[in-house]
Amino acid sequence: MSIISDKQNKNKKIDINAKNPIVKPETNEGDKSFENSIRPKTFDAYIGQGALKETLKITIAAAKKREQPLDHLLFYGPPGLGKTTLAGVIAGQMGVEIKITSAPALERPRDIIGILMSLKGGEILFIDEIHRLNKVAEEILYPAMEDFYLDMTTGKAQTVKTLRLPLPKFTLIGATTKAGALSGPLRDRFGIIHRLQFYTDEELSKVVTRTAGILNIEIDKDGALEIASRSRGTPRIANRLVKRVADFALVKSDGKIGREIAKAALDTLKIDECGLDMTDRGLLKLIAEKFNGGPVGIETLAAALGEDVKTLEDVCEPYLLQAGLLQRTPRGRMITPYALEHLGLKKRVTSAQQSFFD
Ligand SMILES: Nc1ncnc2c1ncn2[C@@H]1O[C@H](COP(=O)(O)OP(=O)(O)OP(=O)(O)O)[C@@H](O)[C@H]1O
Ligand SMILES: [Mg+2]
Repeated sequence: MSIISDKQNKNKKIDINAKNPIVKPETNEGDKSFENSIRPKTFDAYIGQGALKETLKITIAAAKKREQPLDHLLFYGPPGLGKTTLAGVIAGQMGVEIKITSAPALERPRDIIGILMSLKGGEILFIDEIHRLNKVAEEILYPAMEDFYLDMTTGKAQTVKTLRLPLPKFTLIGATTKAGALSGPLRDRFGIIHRLQFYTDEELSKVVTRTAGILNIEIDKDGALEIASRSRGTPRIANRLVKRVADFALVKSDGKIGREIAKAALDTLKIDECGLDMTDRGLLKLIAEKFNGGPVGIETLAAALGEDVKTLEDVCEPYLLQAGLLQRTPRGRMITPYALEHLGLKKRVTSAQQSFFD
């Protein structure tokens, strides 16, 4: 079956948001209801990200010995990899409170001033989506981060006075899915900048087993690995799939999750062995069949799918690139031989693509 050579479907637009969003990494309403109960609270419970955890443990131990707050930290990486969770673990390890906010909630100067002034010594301020801070908020944040004071202006025109208010020493933890969108001066004010990595199948199977344990779901090793391998390297997706597979197991069998039941459930959900859903497969098939494997510009793909460029870039692409199914070249996107094999398609190689496929 081919989505794009199928006459009926030829001009059908694929709505990325409407179709099977279960393997998309952004948080949704369903996640919110149970994410907090399964969020790891300690480094031991926080699975994977080994190198980052080691760096952080040493930084935390040093800060505690010096009796100083931690350096400001910036975490970046695709949604659902554990940035917010890690900030909470750090606060727990430091034994301090964490105040959580996000850039869109800090629109007016008084929002950011208010939250800075509410901080107590050593506390952590977590700002999610920090790349979305506006210029004014950033300007307020610079002296607060560097020297722990607030510059406030009072009066108008000639009578304007600057008031310098000291702040307690605090730690800012910023999180973003788009490090590239962060302004240079803001980025430079972080002591530690770290990218979170996609998780391996083994790591994700530990996430699956841990979550199943908390939710009282019986699962064996093979069942956990089957769910893990289709979770796109992302704990949030793994957790979501655990719940969906558990529902399936309860209705179709005795509630226990083994390999067979996991496979059957995920096949029913149309999530394949690589964790791709119909939208991902549609995108890859479009490149393979309509654009002869690529290269094809993202704008062209977006138009053909009836989607906007941002959604394709932010939602679909990161995992396809990471999994080696898609290649980004200066002339556009290309499908990889691995993706062709995965989709069961044959190579149709033009001379321009020869070097790439070799
Ligand atoms: N290392 C981990 N070990 C176990 N579970 C994890 C880990 N990282 C994340 N999770 C689980 O995945 C879910 C999503 O994590 P989190 O909210 O921290 O992601 P995020 O990177 O902040 O995503 P976003 O960019 O959407 O804010 C959490 O509910 C948490 O339980
Ligand atoms: Mg988050």
